[in-house]
Amino acid sequence: MSAAELMVGRRICICAGPGGVGKTTTAAALAVGLAARGQKVAVVTIDPARRLAEALGLQQLDNEPRAVDPGHFAALGIEWRGELWAMMLDAKRTFDELIELLAPDAATRDAIFANRIYQELSSAVAGSQEFTAVAKLYELDRSGRFDSIVLDTPPSRNAIDFLDAPARLTGFLGGRAVKLVTAPTGAAAAIASRSSALVFLALRRITGVDLLADLGTFFGVLGSVVDGFAERASAVSSLLADPATTFLIVTSPEAAAIEEAIFLRQRLLAANMLFGGLVVNRVRMLAPGQLAIDEAALALDFHGDRRLAARSIQALEDLRALANRDAENLHRLSAEFSGARPILVPQFDHEASDVAGLAAVERFLFASPRERAELLAEQAF
Ligand SMILES: Nc1ncnc2c1ncn2[C@@H]1O[C@H](COP(=O)(O)OP(=O)(O)O)[C@@H](O)[C@H]1O
Ligand SMILES: [Mg+2]
Repeated sequence: MSAAELMVGRRICICAGPGGVGKTTTAAALAVGLAARGQKVAVVTIDPARRLAEALGLQQLDNEPRAVDPGHFAALGIEWRGELWAMMLDAKRTFDELIELLAPDAATRDAIFANRIYQELSSAVAGSQEFTAVAKLYELDRSGRFDSIVLDTPPSRNAIDFLDAPARLTGFLGGRAVKLVTAPTGAAAAIASRSSALVFLALRRITGVDLLADLGTFFGVLGSVVDGFAERASAVSSLLADPATTFLIVTSPEAAAIEEAIFLRQRLLAANMLFGGLVVNRVRMLAPGQLAIDEAALALDFHGDRRLAARSIQALEDLRALANRDAENLHRLSAEFSGARPILVPQFDHEASDVAGLAAVERFLFASPRERAELLAEQAF
């Protein structure tokens, strides 16, 4: 398959998978390709490599999509008829914006933001970028500004965290524990009880920090956003399961990554989310010409320099061994993914994060299988 088929009838693509396999690069290249094909696209990247941020013209973390200059890409033969908007996710800011939206009035909003406990909590929650990423996605989708949105996912320890985090967070904020403490007779009231008040008073005398007031305000104002938060969270969950939302699993051919990709797909299916396609990135492949190279020919190429020839032969042997191992792993992957034909992107020997790298990945993503074989033959390894 190709990335163009993946997006037929879809508005949102979420690039998920193990860490370090090229999710952010793939998300950006996919967005470039969609813009080239006439769409108005937004891509939300998370912690992009510096070169990638530069390639997309992202200088700062301002949490709003910025128009990407098509000039650099046009120079490489990728002209877009649509528009490309890119942003880096600012998790803390996204969380603040959400609270701002849900607060019933400006005074409550200011009270929440000024609250020390909120400041700590929001940094901790934003630290789990999984929730804020989908919250941002939801907001962009609701704005109606884009034909399609590509979402990168955070560099979680494992890919499944991404699916679980929103539910965990909303389970907490909308759940019994918070309801209990925010109720008029809940913990907020208990905090004010005499014995705990004494502890807080003592703390205030020692530290000068009025934790009691902070806690009281925090629980008091949090109550006003909890319901809105739970509603928003369920809308976000529906968006993930919407038929217009598809997941693109990105993996490398490493054995551990492949196991994770297999598990992730099972989880997607179990959660009734749409598995749209599979990209295997950084595959070591031999171009057809390299299969036929033999020792004698190499020795000739090096004008009789036998040491150089021997080193080249060794390098070729190593690449062959790696390519064989990748091929075996891919075999296992295909068997597990019953019929889903992966999009293979080779391991380039150059940077994949700059404009040229993105253009190269884009070509592989959108090529038909035949075109891909031709591209591979052109590759200089
Ligand atoms: N096909 C490739 N060939 C060579 N380098 C690649 C390729 N794909 C990605 N990279 C490089 O690998 C690094 C990690 O890629 P990234 O997209 O940030 O991964 P992830 O988001 O999954 O952690 C980046 O430096 C990127 O340039
Ligand atoms: Mg990444």
